[in-house]
Amino acid sequence: MQTLVVTQDENRIDRQTIMQAGEIIRNGGLVAFPTETVYGLGGDGLNPDSSRKIYAAKGRPSDNPLIIHIYRMEDLQVLVKEIPDNAKKLAEAFWPGPLTMILPKADLVPKETTGGLDTVAVRMPSHKVALAFIEAAGGFVAAPSANLSGKPSPTLAKYVVEDMDGRIDMIIDGGDIAIGLESTIVDLTGDVPMILRPGYITLDMLKDVLGEVKCDPTLLDGDCKERPKAPGMRYRHYAPKGDMLIVDGEAEAVVREINRCVADSRKRGFKTGVIATGENADKYEADVVKVVGGRNEETAIAASLYRILREFDDEEVDAIYSESFATDGIGQAIMNRLLKAAGHKYKQIREEE
Ligand code: TXA
Ligand code: MG
Repeated sequence: MQTLVVTQDENRIDRQTIMQAGEIIRNGGLVAFPTETVYGLGGDGLNPDSSRKIYAAKGRPSDNPLIIHIYRMEDLQVLVKEIPDNAKKLAEAFWPGPLTMILPKADLVPKETTGGLDTVAVRMPSHKVALAFIEAAGGFVAAPSANLSGKPSPTLAKYVVEDMDGRIDMIIDGGDIAIGLESTIVDLTGDVPMILRPGYITLDMLKDVLGEVKCDPTLLDGDCKERPKAPGMRYRHYAPKGDMLIVDGEAEAVVREINRCVADSRKRGFKTGVIATGENADKYEADVVKVVGGRNEETAIAASLYRILREFDDEEVDAIYSESFATDGIGQAIMNRLLKAAGHKYKQIREEE
Protein backbone atom coordinates (compact mmCIF):
# COMPACT_ATOMS: atom_id res chain seq x y z
CA MET A 1 0.00 0.00 0.00
CA GLN A 2 1.20 3.50 -0.86
CA THR A 3 1.13 5.77 2.21
CA LEU A 4 0.55 9.44 1.50
CA VAL A 5 2.35 11.79 3.93
CA VAL A 6 0.90 15.31 4.27
CA THR A 7 1.70 18.15 6.65
CA GLN A 8 -0.75 20.27 8.60
CA ASP A 9 -0.15 23.36 10.69
CA GLU A 10 -2.42 23.69 13.73
CA ASN A 11 -2.73 27.40 13.05
CA ARG A 12 -3.38 27.12 9.31
CA ILE A 13 -5.43 24.05 8.61
CA ASP A 14 -5.85 23.18 4.96
CA ARG A 15 -9.51 22.19 4.49
CA GLN A 16 -8.90 20.24 1.33
CA THR A 17 -6.31 17.95 2.90
CA ILE A 18 -8.47 17.42 5.98
CA MET A 19 -11.49 16.56 3.80
CA GLN A 20 -9.36 14.06 1.90
CA ALA A 21 -8.24 12.47 5.18
CA GLY A 22 -11.84 12.36 6.39
CA GLU A 23 -12.96 10.67 3.22
CA ILE A 24 -10.36 7.94 3.63
CA ILE A 25 -11.79 7.16 7.08
CA ARG A 26 -15.41 7.24 5.84
CA ASN A 27 -14.39 4.76 3.13
CA GLY A 28 -12.96 2.36 5.71
CA GLY A 29 -9.27 3.37 5.40
CA LEU A 30 -6.69 4.36 8.02
CA VAL A 31 -5.06 7.76 8.70
CA ALA A 32 -2.45 8.61 11.34
CA PHE A 33 -2.93 12.06 12.88
CA PRO A 34 -1.42 14.31 15.56
CA THR A 35 -3.03 14.80 18.96
CA GLU A 36 -1.74 16.78 21.96
CA THR A 37 -0.57 13.53 23.64
CA VAL A 38 0.94 11.26 20.94
CA TYR A 39 0.20 10.48 17.28
CA GLY A 40 -2.91 8.34 16.76
CA LEU A 41 -3.72 5.69 14.15
CA GLY A 42 -7.31 6.47 13.15
CA GLY A 43 -10.09 4.43 11.60
CA ASP A 44 -13.90 4.68 11.69
CA GLY A 45 -14.80 3.70 15.26
CA LEU A 46 -18.27 2.53 14.23
CA ASN A 47 -17.01 0.28 11.42
CA PRO A 48 -15.86 -3.18 12.61
CA ASP A 49 -13.73 -3.66 9.48
CA SER A 50 -11.81 -0.47 10.20
CA SER A 51 -11.04 -1.65 13.73
CA ARG A 52 -9.82 -4.99 12.36
CA LYS A 53 -7.53 -3.09 10.00
CA ILE A 54 -6.13 -1.02 12.87
CA TYR A 55 -5.19 -4.15 14.82
CA ALA A 56 -3.56 -5.62 11.73
CA ALA A 57 -1.57 -2.45 10.91
CA LYS A 58 -0.23 -2.23 14.47
CA GLY A 59 0.29 -5.95 14.94
CA ARG A 60 -1.80 -5.55 18.08
CA PRO A 61 -3.83 -8.29 19.81
CA SER A 62 -7.50 -7.70 19.03
CA ASP A 63 -8.58 -8.04 22.69
CA ASN A 64 -6.90 -4.71 23.44
CA PRO A 65 -9.67 -2.10 23.02
CA LEU A 66 -9.40 1.20 21.14
CA ILE A 67 -10.24 4.73 22.27
CA ILE A 68 -12.96 6.48 20.24
CA HIS A 69 -12.12 10.13 19.62
CA ILE A 70 -14.91 12.73 19.23
CA TYR A 71 -14.79 16.39 18.25
CA ARG A 72 -17.78 17.78 20.17
CA MET A 73 -19.37 17.16 23.56
CA GLU A 74 -22.83 16.18 22.30
CA ASP A 75 -21.41 13.13 20.53
CA LEU A 76 -20.54 11.41 23.82
CA GLN A 77 -24.18 10.35 24.27
CA VAL A 78 -24.11 8.51 20.95
CA LEU A 79 -21.42 6.14 22.23
CA VAL A 80 -22.55 5.38 25.79
CA LYS A 81 -25.61 3.91 27.57
CA GLU A 82 -25.89 6.95 29.81
CA ILE A 83 -23.73 9.84 30.95
CA PRO A 84 -23.22 9.77 34.73
CA ASP A 85 -22.73 13.06 36.61
CA ASN A 86 -19.05 12.29 37.09
CA ALA A 87 -18.55 12.08 33.33
CA LYS A 88 -20.29 15.41 32.82
CA LYS A 89 -18.06 17.04 35.41
CA LEU A 90 -14.87 15.60 33.92
CA ALA A 91 -15.85 16.54 30.37
CA GLU A 92 -16.55 20.10 31.49
CA ALA A 93 -13.26 20.34 33.35
CA PHE A 94 -10.86 18.57 30.96
CA TRP A 95 -12.33 18.26 27.45
CA PRO A 96 -11.08 18.91 24.93
CA GLY A 97 -7.86 17.48 26.40
CA PRO A 98 -5.74 14.51 27.43
CA LEU A 99 -8.41 12.58 29.35
CA THR A 100 -10.11 9.32 28.33
CA MET A 101 -13.24 8.08 30.10
CA ILE A 102 -14.44 4.47 30.26
CA LEU A 103 -18.25 4.10 30.25
CA PRO A 104 -20.81 1.36 29.43
CA LYS A 105 -21.06 1.30 25.64
CA ALA A 106 -24.14 1.90 23.49
CA ASP A 107 -25.23 -0.97 21.20
CA LEU A 108 -24.08 0.94 18.14
CA VAL A 109 -20.41 0.68 19.16
CA PRO A 110 -19.02 -2.52 17.61
CA LYS A 111 -17.30 -5.05 19.87
CA GLU A 112 -14.43 -5.09 17.38
CA THR A 113 -13.62 -1.55 18.53
CA THR A 114 -13.92 -2.35 22.26
CA GLY A 115 -11.94 -5.59 22.15
CA GLY A 116 -15.08 -7.52 23.05
CA LEU A 117 -15.86 -5.42 26.16
CA ASP A 118 -19.24 -3.89 27.09
CA THR A 119 -17.51 -0.62 27.92
CA VAL A 120 -16.08 2.02 25.61
CA ALA A 121 -13.17 4.46 26.00
CA VAL A 122 -13.95 8.00 24.78
CA ARG A 123 -11.74 11.06 24.46
CA MET A 124 -12.09 14.51 22.94
CA PRO A 125 -8.57 15.69 22.06
CA SER A 126 -7.60 19.37 22.01
CA HIS A 127 -5.23 19.37 19.01
CA LYS A 128 -6.89 21.51 16.31
CA VAL A 129 -5.78 19.24 13.47
CA ALA A 130 -7.22 16.23 15.33
CA LEU A 131 -10.56 17.98 15.90
CA ALA A 132 -10.90 19.07 12.27
CA PHE A 133 -9.94 15.59 11.08
CA ILE A 134 -12.41 13.79 13.39
CA GLU A 135 -15.21 16.06 12.17
CA ALA A 136 -14.31 15.42 8.53
CA ALA A 137 -14.13 11.68 9.24
CA GLY A 138 -17.75 11.55 10.45
CA GLY A 139 -17.23 12.22 14.14
CA PHE A 140 -16.06 8.90 15.64
CA VAL A 141 -12.42 8.01 15.11
CA ALA A 142 -11.07 4.92 16.84
CA ALA A 143 -7.37 5.46 17.43
CA PRO A 144 -4.63 3.72 19.34
CA SER A 145 -1.18 5.27 19.41
CA ALA A 146 0.33 5.09 15.91
CA ASN A 147 3.27 2.81 16.80
CA LEU A 148 3.82 -0.83 16.01
CA SER A 149 2.72 -2.90 19.00
CA GLY A 150 5.51 -3.03 21.60
CA LYS A 151 7.25 0.18 20.52
CA PRO A 152 7.04 3.53 22.33
CA SER A 153 4.15 5.74 21.20
CA PRO A 154 5.26 8.15 18.45
CA THR A 155 5.84 11.75 19.48
CA LEU A 156 7.21 12.77 16.07
CA ALA A 157 5.76 12.11 12.61
CA LYS A 158 9.04 10.53 11.49
CA TYR A 159 8.41 7.69 13.97
CA VAL A 160 4.91 7.19 12.54
CA VAL A 161 6.45 6.95 9.08
CA GLU A 162 9.04 4.50 10.40
CA ASP A 163 6.36 2.21 11.88
CA MET A 164 3.40 2.68 9.51
CA ASP A 165 4.75 3.43 6.03
CA GLY A 166 3.14 0.99 3.60
CA ARG A 167 0.58 -0.17 6.21
CA ILE A 168 -1.94 2.71 6.18
CA ASP A 169 -3.41 5.17 3.66
CA MET A 170 -2.24 8.51 5.00
CA ILE A 171 -0.06 10.13 7.67
CA ILE A 172 -0.78 13.70 8.75
CA ASP A 173 2.44 15.27 10.01
CA GLY A 174 1.40 17.92 12.54
CA GLY A 175 4.88 18.63 13.84
CA ASP A 176 5.89 18.33 17.48
CA ILE A 177 3.57 16.87 20.08
CA ALA A 178 2.90 18.96 23.19
CA ILE A 179 2.58 16.36 25.96
CA GLY A 180 4.39 13.23 24.81
CA LEU A 181 2.63 10.66 27.04
CA GLU A 182 -0.75 9.06 26.33
CA SER A 183 -3.95 10.41 27.89
CA THR A 184 -5.01 9.71 31.46
CA ILE A 185 -7.63 6.93 31.46
CA VAL A 186 -10.38 7.02 34.11
CA ASP A 187 -12.83 4.16 34.54
CA LEU A 188 -16.25 5.52 35.55
CA THR A 189 -18.07 2.16 35.56
CA GLY A 190 -17.35 1.26 39.21
CA ASP A 191 -18.47 2.74 42.55
CA VAL A 192 -15.40 4.96 42.77
CA PRO A 193 -13.70 6.46 39.68
CA MET A 194 -10.39 4.70 39.03
CA ILE A 195 -7.29 5.76 37.10
CA LEU A 196 -6.31 2.89 34.78
CA ARG A 197 -3.46 4.78 33.10
CA PRO A 198 -1.84 7.90 34.61
CA GLY A 199 -1.15 10.89 32.37
CA TYR A 200 -0.96 14.67 32.17
CA ILE A 201 -4.31 14.99 34.01
CA THR A 202 -3.16 13.95 37.47
CA LEU A 203 -4.83 12.19 40.40
CA ASP A 204 -5.05 15.48 42.30
CA MET A 205 -6.65 17.26 39.35
CA LEU A 206 -9.28 14.51 39.14
CA LYS A 207 -9.88 14.57 42.91
CA ASP A 208 -10.46 18.33 42.74
CA VAL A 209 -13.39 17.69 40.42
CA LEU A 210 -14.76 14.34 41.66
CA GLY A 211 -13.74 14.02 45.30
CA GLU A 212 -12.82 10.37 45.75
CA VAL A 213 -10.65 8.78 43.01
CA LYS A 214 -8.67 5.51 43.19
CA CYS A 215 -5.65 4.32 41.22
CA ASP A 216 -5.31 0.86 39.72
CA PRO A 217 -2.87 -0.68 42.26
CA THR A 218 -0.72 -2.18 39.48
CA LEU A 219 0.37 1.19 38.03
CA LEU A 220 3.69 1.53 39.84
CA ASP A 221 3.99 -1.81 41.61
CA GLY A 222 5.68 -4.54 39.58
CA ASP A 223 5.05 -7.14 42.29
CA CYS A 224 1.31 -6.47 42.49
CA LYS A 225 -0.55 -9.77 42.09
CA GLU A 226 -3.60 -8.18 40.45
CA ARG A 227 -3.98 -7.75 36.70
CA PRO A 228 -4.08 -4.19 35.31
CA LYS A 229 -7.69 -3.21 34.54
CA ALA A 230 -6.86 -1.67 31.14
CA PRO A 231 -6.05 -4.58 28.82
CA GLY A 232 -3.31 -2.55 27.12
CA MET A 233 -1.45 -2.06 30.41
CA ARG A 234 -1.00 -5.85 30.68
CA TYR A 235 1.23 -6.16 27.67
CA ARG A 236 4.94 -5.49 27.76
CA HIS A 237 4.95 -2.14 26.04
CA TYR A 238 7.05 0.98 25.54
CA ALA A 239 9.97 -1.40 25.42
CA PRO A 240 13.35 -0.40 24.02
CA LYS A 241 15.41 -3.22 22.49
CA GLY A 242 18.14 -2.76 25.10
CA ASP A 243 17.94 -4.07 28.63
CA MET A 244 16.93 -1.32 31.04
CA LEU A 245 17.38 -0.64 34.77
CA ILE A 246 16.07 2.30 36.81
CA VAL A 247 18.24 3.42 39.71
CA ASP A 248 16.69 5.40 42.55
CA GLY A 249 18.22 7.15 45.56
CA GLU A 250 20.21 10.21 46.55
CA ALA A 251 21.65 11.95 43.45
CA GLU A 252 25.37 11.27 43.98
CA ALA A 253 24.77 7.66 44.96
CA VAL A 254 22.68 7.15 41.82
CA VAL A 255 25.44 8.56 39.60
CA ARG A 256 28.00 6.32 41.32
CA GLU A 257 25.85 3.19 40.97
CA ILE A 258 24.96 3.87 37.33
CA ASN A 259 28.63 4.44 36.47
CA ARG A 260 29.49 1.16 38.23
CA CYS A 261 26.84 -0.67 36.17
CA VAL A 262 28.02 1.08 32.98
CA ALA A 263 31.61 -0.05 33.59
CA ASP A 264 30.39 -3.57 34.23
CA SER A 265 28.29 -3.70 31.06
CA ARG A 266 31.12 -2.29 28.99
CA LYS A 267 33.47 -4.95 30.25
CA ARG A 268 31.02 -7.47 28.88
CA GLY A 269 31.07 -5.75 25.49
CA PHE A 270 27.73 -3.95 25.69
CA LYS A 271 27.01 -0.50 24.31
CA THR A 272 25.71 1.54 27.25
CA GLY A 273 23.24 4.41 27.55
CA VAL A 274 21.98 6.64 30.36
CA ILE A 275 18.75 8.60 30.75
CA ALA A 276 19.93 11.56 32.79
CA THR A 277 18.56 14.75 34.25
CA GLY A 278 20.32 17.89 33.06
CA GLU A 279 21.84 18.39 36.53
CA ASN A 280 23.78 15.09 36.36
CA ALA A 281 24.35 14.52 32.64
CA ASP A 282 28.07 15.35 32.47
CA LYS A 283 28.87 12.97 35.34
CA TYR A 284 28.05 9.80 33.42
CA GLU A 285 30.63 7.69 31.63
CA ALA A 286 28.28 5.79 29.28
CA ASP A 287 28.64 5.59 25.48
CA VAL A 288 25.40 7.54 25.00
CA VAL A 289 24.00 9.98 27.59
CA LYS A 290 20.57 11.48 26.88
CA VAL A 291 19.24 14.45 28.83
CA VAL A 292 15.53 13.93 29.46
CA GLY A 293 15.01 17.34 31.10
CA GLY A 294 15.77 19.16 34.33
CA ARG A 295 15.04 17.25 37.55
CA ASN A 296 11.99 19.40 38.29
CA GLU A 297 10.81 19.90 34.71
CA GLU A 298 8.25 17.13 34.61
CA THR A 299 6.51 18.35 31.45
CA ALA A 300 9.84 18.45 29.60
CA ILE A 301 10.68 14.94 30.84
CA ALA A 302 7.27 13.65 29.67
CA ALA A 303 7.74 15.27 26.26
CA SER A 304 11.16 13.74 25.55
CA LEU A 305 10.95 10.29 27.16
CA TYR A 306 9.57 8.28 24.21
CA ARG A 307 11.85 10.00 21.71
CA ILE A 308 14.84 9.04 23.84
CA LEU A 309 13.72 5.40 24.12
CA ARG A 310 13.49 5.24 20.33
CA GLU A 311 16.89 6.91 19.90
CA PHE A 312 18.47 4.22 22.07
CA ASP A 313 17.03 1.65 19.65
CA ASP A 314 18.36 3.55 16.63
CA GLU A 315 21.80 3.78 18.21
CA GLU A 316 21.66 0.09 19.12
CA VAL A 317 22.32 0.58 22.81
CA ASP A 318 22.31 -2.76 24.67
CA ALA A 319 22.21 -1.65 28.31
CA ILE A 320 20.20 1.40 29.38
CA TYR A 321 20.33 2.92 32.86
CA SER A 322 17.89 5.59 33.96
CA GLU A 323 17.63 7.93 36.88
CA SER A 324 14.35 7.74 38.80
CA PHE A 325 11.78 10.54 39.10
CA ALA A 326 9.27 11.75 41.69
CA THR A 327 6.00 9.81 41.54
CA ASP A 328 3.58 12.64 42.28
CA GLY A 329 1.76 14.75 39.68
CA ILE A 330 2.80 13.97 36.10
CA GLY A 331 5.70 12.07 37.66
CA GLN A 332 3.29 9.19 38.28
CA ALA A 333 2.76 8.84 34.52
CA ILE A 334 6.48 9.23 33.79
CA MET A 335 7.47 6.54 36.29
CA ASN A 336 4.64 4.26 35.13
CA ARG A 337 5.95 4.35 31.53
CA LEU A 338 9.59 4.16 32.59
CA LEU A 339 8.95 1.11 34.80
CA LYS A 340 7.11 -0.58 31.96
CA ALA A 341 9.95 0.16 29.56
CA ALA A 342 12.35 -1.39 32.08
CA GLY A 343 10.13 -4.41 32.66
CA HIS A 344 9.99 -3.15 36.29
CA LYS A 345 13.75 -3.59 36.80
CA TYR A 346 14.34 -1.05 39.53
CA LYS A 347 17.08 -0.65 42.11
CA GLN A 348 16.88 1.49 45.23
CA ILE A 349 20.24 2.68 46.62
CA ARG A 350 20.15 3.06 50.41
CA GLU A 351 22.05 5.85 52.22
CA GLU A 352 24.47 3.53 54.04
CA GLU A 353 25.58 1.65 50.91
O1 TXA B 1 -3.42 9.75 24.32
C1 TXA B 1 -4.00 8.74 23.94
O2 TXA B 1 -4.86 8.16 24.62
C2 TXA B 1 -3.62 8.16 22.55
C3 TXA B 1 -4.05 9.19 21.51
C4 TXA B 1 -3.87 8.69 20.11
O3 TXA B 1 -5.37 9.59 21.75
N1 TXA B 1 -4.24 6.89 22.35
C5 TXA B 1 -3.81 5.77 22.98
O4 TXA B 1 -4.47 4.62 22.60
O5 TXA B 1 -2.94 5.76 23.80
P1 TXA B 1 -3.92 3.15 22.91
O6 TXA B 1 -4.83 2.25 22.15
O7 TXA B 1 -2.50 3.08 22.58
O8 TXA B 1 -4.19 2.94 24.41
C6 TXA B 1 -5.52 2.78 24.86
C7 TXA B 1 -5.54 2.13 26.21
C8 TXA B 1 -5.15 0.68 26.17
O9 TXA B 1 -4.35 0.40 27.32
C9 TXA B 1 -6.51 -0.02 26.26
O10 TXA B 1 -6.40 -1.31 26.83
C10 TXA B 1 -7.29 0.93 27.14
O11 TXA B 1 -6.89 2.19 26.69
N2 TXA B 1 -8.74 0.80 26.96
C11 TXA B 1 -9.45 1.12 25.84
N3 TXA B 1 -10.75 0.83 25.99
C12 TXA B 1 -10.89 0.33 27.23
C13 TXA B 1 -11.98 -0.17 28.00
N4 TXA B 1 -13.21 -0.21 27.51
N5 TXA B 1 -11.75 -0.60 29.27
C14 TXA B 1 -10.48 -0.57 29.78
N6 TXA B 1 -9.41 -0.11 29.11
C15 TXA B 1 -9.60 0.32 27.86
MG1 MG C 1 -0.49 2.59 22.68
